[in-house]
Amino acid sequence: MTDKITLSVIKADVGSLCGHTSVPPELIDRAEEKLADSDLLDDYQVTYVGDDMELIMTHRLGTDHNDIHELAWDAFLAATEVANELKLYGAGQDLLSDAFSGNVKGMGPGVAEMEFTERKSEPVVVLMADKTEPGAWNLPLYKIFADPFNTAGLVVDPNMHDGFDFLVYDLKEGKKIAFSMPEELYDMLVFIGAQSRFVIHSIYRKGNEEDNIAATASTQRLSLAAGEYVGKDDPVCIIRCQSGLPAVGEVLEPFAQPHLVSGWMRGSHHGPLIPVSTEGSTPTRFDGPPRVCALGYQITNGKLLGPQDFFADVAFDEARKTANRIANYMRTMGPFEPHRLPLDEMEYTTLPHVMKSLEDRFEPIDE
Ligand code: F6R
Ligand code: MG
Ligand code: MG
Repeated sequence: MTDKITLSVIKADVGSLCGHTSVPPELIDRAEEKLADSDLLDDYQVTYVGDDMELIMTHRLGTDHNDIHELAWDAFLAATEVANELKLYGAGQDLLSDAFSGNVKGMGPGVAEMEFTERKSEPVVVLMADKTEPGAWNLPLYKIFADPFNTAGLVVDPNMHDGFDFLVYDLKEGKKIAFSMPEELYDMLVFIGAQSRFVIHSIYRKGNEEDNIAATASTQRLSLAAGEYVGKDDPVCIIRCQSGLPAVGEVLEPFAQPHLVSGWMRGSHHGPLIPVSTEGSTPTRFDGPPRVCALGYQITNGKLLGPQDFFADVAFDEARKTANRIANYMRTMGPFEPHRLPLDEMEYTTLPHVMKSLEDRFEPIDE
């Protein structure tokens, strides 16, 4: 137990009302009851984006703590019971195991956690997405922490002028590497531009060794955890803001230009990431398009003040229009790449089955 605050955002899809679209209040209520029963937390909120339930929790136990992970697991299990009773769709979908084994990582849920000393004022933004994958944060995180065209503070604020350190995970090889921005920008872009494999895990401000965490994202890939396609690893991300870190507006700015992400329809298509309010986060068209919500909080003595539902704002109306135009265009390509994902990204689904059934009909090309 320390004076430091840990912000844990743990999410899972444990069932949805009418296809993979929404988390009904009955599930939220049940998870809330479970968190309320615990004396481990300073504060909590249960929210959602699309079909994903999001537990936003503050406590003093540090990151990766068994008790917090077990509490989250129990909340998801309790919500799954309700989902089963209501015969909701995909009940318990993201819970890959029947029994908790110490840490929810690798068991299905997505996890982003950071521990820090609460500043004089501690604004944070929690990003939550549905119908996409952890690499969806690479482009916005790059813009927020390394692109002066997005983040004026990199040029203007002396406290940000030295840049940030990025920790990048290679999800395929299970390795990690740190890059110093801006000096190693070109090296890093080689990797993070391939976002299905290389994913930004966390970002640190330089200099202040003690309390330097600035951002952290969930990097779990359900398909890699389960060995087959079992749903999308819809990601979350936490970003601390202001006073030598990116301003809230600099954190939200990249989402004004919707970028293409993978995960739309059956986890097998590219589409634009459309910024929406929590209420507007129900995916409809072709099970999408992929959605992102941004919730703002002040963390005050460990309590969560908020949320501020940022993408509800009229300033993101144009981005929604742009995303819808891009969606129209992408849809015209139907089952063809690059709307559909390349085969190796779908290796756990159709290809092996079709290949097997047609194996005998493949002949050598004899020219
Ligand atoms: C789920 C998702 C959806 C489903 C699709 C088929 O997050 O992306 O597009 O993949 O609705 O779902 P099933 O296989 O459950 O019928
Ligand atoms: Mg689902
Ligand atoms: Mg989802």
